[in-house]
Amino acid sequence: MPDLNNKSEDLTYQLVRINDDPELMKVYFMWEINEDEKELFCYQDFNPELAPYSEERFLQFQKHFKVTLAASAYYLLQDKHTGQYIGFVCLHNFIKRNRSSEVSFAMFNDFRGNGLGSIMLSLFLARIFEKDFPWLHKIYGETSSLNIRASKVMEKNGFKKDGSLRDHYNIKGNFYDQYLYSLLKSEWNLGKT
Ligand SMILES: CC(C)(COP(=O)(O)OP(=O)(O)OC[C@H]1O[C@@H](n2cnc3c(N)ncnc32)[C@H](O)[C@@H]1OP(=O)(O)O)[C@@H](O)C(=O)NCCC(=O)NCCS
Repeated sequence: MPDLNNKSEDLTYQLVRINDDPELMKVYFMWEINEDEKELFCYQDFNPELAPYSEERFLQFQKHFKVTLAASAYYLLQDKHTGQYIGFVCLHNFIKRNRSSEVSFAMFNDFRGNGLGSIMLSLFLARIFEKDFPWLHKIYGETSSLNIRASKVMEKNGFKKDGSLRDHYNIKGNFYDQYLYSLLKSEWNLGKT
């Protein structure tokens, strides 16, 4: 199990920001169309028209994604040694006035259950608070009450549970609460020392 306090992990993994590069966009697109657990961690309706893969669909997606990227920040977690992409984490819903933004994340299907989610979030927090968005005051995230791993990953990285929205997720016909989490930059700074 990787150790969050072990800085040598940084030698193994890196975050790559998704930009206009079609190769990086395709990595994310392939996850979008292959993910079969979306119901577990996404409470909105999904776009069913993305799959199956075709070059035309990818080009369509690229057009929309470029617009999305202009108002958000998407990163892929990459194994530096193998070059393999392992998961993604993104910041969206920026509200400048409040200096806040929402975080969403997922490991790609074969890389769940190994503690890599915590490593990705830890690298991400350092990247956004220290480099890419130093003006942020807080970030927040959400998950269903069924998704214990997602809660653990956020709690391990210092997020506090702010509350819940009742029956906000319908997963395979059963309703689950949505847990809301947040992390202030000041708390993250404290956690470093
Ligand atoms: C959520 C996700 C990012 C977590 O990353 P991960 O690397 O798979 O997480 P792990 O398997 O290491 O589990 C995280 C923690 O939950 C704990 N855990 C897992 N299942 C558990 C259970 N049933 N009960 C209690 N703890 C549990 C693990 O022991 C681990 O804790 P530890 O680090 O202290 O050992 C990943 O599973 C994923 O991508 N899931 C699908 C997408 C998703 O849910 N995204 C979150 C959006 S809200």
